[in-house]
Amino acid sequence: MKKLISEVESSQVEVLDEFYELYAHYMVSWKDENLGKESATISKFVSFLFPHGSSSCQKLRKFVVPLQCSLNMLAGDTGCSIWPSSLYLSELILSFPDIFSTRKCFEVGSGVGLVGICLARVKTSSVVLSDGDPSTLANMKVNLGLNGLCCLSSATATPERTKEDLQTVECMHLPWESASESELEAFAPDIVLGADVIYDPVCLPHLVRVLSILLRPKQTHSSTHSFPGSEHVEDANHTNDVDNGSHGYKARVSECPVAYIASVIRNIDTFNHFLGIVEQSNLSICDITDELKPMNLLPYMYSYNRSSIRLFTLKFK
Ligand SMILES: C[S@@+](CC[C@H](N)C(=O)[O-])C[C@H]1O[C@@H](n2cnc3c(N)ncnc32)[C@H](O)[C@@H]1O
Repeated sequence: MKKLISEVESSQVEVLDEFYELYAHYMVSWKDENLGKESATISKFVSFLFPHGSSSCQKLRKFVVPLQCSLNMLAGDTGCSIWPSSLYLSELILSFPDIFSTRKCFEVGSGVGLVGICLARVKTSSVVLSDGDPSTLANMKVNLGLNGLCCLSSATATPERTKEDLQTVECMHLPWESASESELEAFAPDIVLGADVIYDPVCLPHLVRVLSILLRPKQTHSSTHSFPGSEHVEDANHTNDVDNGSHGYKARVSECPVAYIASVIRNIDTFNHFLGIVEQSNLSICDITDELKPMNLLPYMYSYNRSSIRLFTLKFK
């Protein structure tokens, strides 16, 4: 309505008073309903648009993700709104599904759950989403439901999964400060993900501790295992390069898990602090932003500045 009013005004045409009144009414009632309510939520639809077909006859294939988010960016310890790095990781997953499919994926600081929804889409072996904030976790579960994914809480989770469970995503309360070593070791993920989780200097040592446990090489006694839904069988001493069509970037299928961490570097001191802690740990970090570029699947989202995001891999040294 605002846009229409300004367009009509700029073309020197008179706007009906009723139209101004209706606009004012909506503005005031919306504010009354939502102002001061920390928990006020809105529904968003993130539509990933895949170009396909020949250039003369390009049609768009869509993957639409409905999400419940908060109007307040700080709600749920920042976890109830969508941050740009989760859009970026989602584009990465949908651009290079072979990196993630048939792998055991674990996300830290999952927020609204968008990354997990994209992981479920590319048929990972399993997806575990985690967050330290209980209200974020509750909102994430709503979003999994909105996307037809069955949410398994950690209490009812079983390590063995069947093909019927492939659309199941596990959600767990996992504050980095208190997550125990044995609890983390039990997940033994192939891939760890994190979007916009490098921002609070106080939490960073705890985050790096969590990552270093999750990224430990798998025990040799579990030397072979298969991923449900795939023919893939791995040996502990065996590594394969899998070309994912990603312009030279090769994801290593090995027993050493890898973390993909996307981040907007808002404060360089905080980021350098993170690098310092990683340096002192048993992890190595590599900036792969220029090597592994996702497709632009959100071309209509002008507020999403992809160039501000860096993508890192972390591995056990
Ligand atoms: C900026 S938000 C990013 C959310 C989501 N990954 C995204 O990109 O949209 C940071 C997330 O990390 C979670 N988080 C922050 N500190 C944490 C901690 N100490 N333990 C576990 N999760 C934490 C927050 O609850 C929040 O969901």
